[in-house]
Amino acid sequence: MSTLELEGRRAVITAAASGMGRAGAEAFAAAGADLVLVDIDQDGVTRVATEIGAQHPDRTVVGLRADLTDPLEARRVVAEAATTLGGLDILWNHAGIFGDNDFEQITPEAYALCMNLNVQSGVFATAEAFAWLRQSDAPSVIFTSSTSGMMGATGSPLYSTAKFAVVGLTKSLALRYGQYGIRVNAICPGLVETPMANHFFDPAGADKGLIDAGRQRLMDHTALARAAAPSEIAELALFLASSRSSYISGAHIPIDGGYTAGIPGRKPLP
Ligand SMILES: NC(=O)c1ccc[n+]([C@@H]2O[C@H](COP(=O)([O-])OP(=O)(O)OC[C@H]3O[C@@H](n4cnc5c(N)ncnc54)[C@H](O)[C@@H]3O)[C@@H](O)[C@H]2O)c1
Repeated sequence: MSTLELEGRRAVITAAASGMGRAGAEAFAAAGADLVLVDIDQDGVTRVATEIGAQHPDRTVVGLRADLTDPLEARRVVAEAATTLGGLDILWNHAGIFGDNDFEQITPEAYALCMNLNVQSGVFATAEAFAWLRQSDAPSVIFTSSTSGMMGATGSPLYSTAKFAVVGLTKSLALRYGQYGIRVNAICPGLVETPMANHFFDPAGADKGLIDAGRQRLMDHTALARAAAPSEIAELALFLASSRSSYISGAHIPIDGGYTAGIPGRKPLP
């Protein structure tokens, strides 16, 4: 298998200025893809695109700003990306946000923000992408869900609601668009070391005591007892984007160090 397994493929990754999205951009470019990176952070996405482009001067790597909570922006940026790349083979809908964790005080604004970025952005970006993906000979759509899209989550029921919706969307689109050869899959990460990670334990991301206690609780239930590096998630995205996963569609794949496998028994029961 060539290491350039995305040679000639044209890919869009959202939320690519940081974390897993950035790691995915690095992996996809190294595998030969041309890329449009999308993020609300104009400076960040421009910087990441410039850095990756400098490492791969034979590739197209463009950064575009979009606020993906706006459905028209989600459509516009995908159309602009596909036009820039001369087509589209891969769309990784990675953008998302942790929801408000104070369920009883939930506001319509907090609800809308969580649902709009985690779910609606992927709906509209993918709706725009299908016309392009139908013309591809190896089309792949990837969504980022979460272990919170597989199990209920006490931390944020709202986030879990949104991430379950992403899994439902993934499976429904896989069924509907399989006739065009379009594969649609979801990645369900456990804890990943990115700027977002600490917000799971303290929404402000600042209280070290809360963060340390929350991390410890989570690691006590994770077979490998550690968080993932963003590059480990990027490896799964690369696999799902490439033809190595040509018979995988409609799947939601945990990548969580064993968090969803069950209750770890590091000391086996007698
Ligand atoms: N970090 C984790 O532990 C973890 C675990 C499971 C799932 N996830 C999911 O991964 C995705 C992103 O996580 P990450 O950890 O890579 O994040 P990150 O914090 O490293 O980066 C998030 C990126 O999203 C961008 N963004 C924020 N709002 C946006 C908007 N309105 N429009 C466009 N871009 C916007 C930010 O500018 C930033 O670059 C989310 O879908 C999240 O739910 C994260």
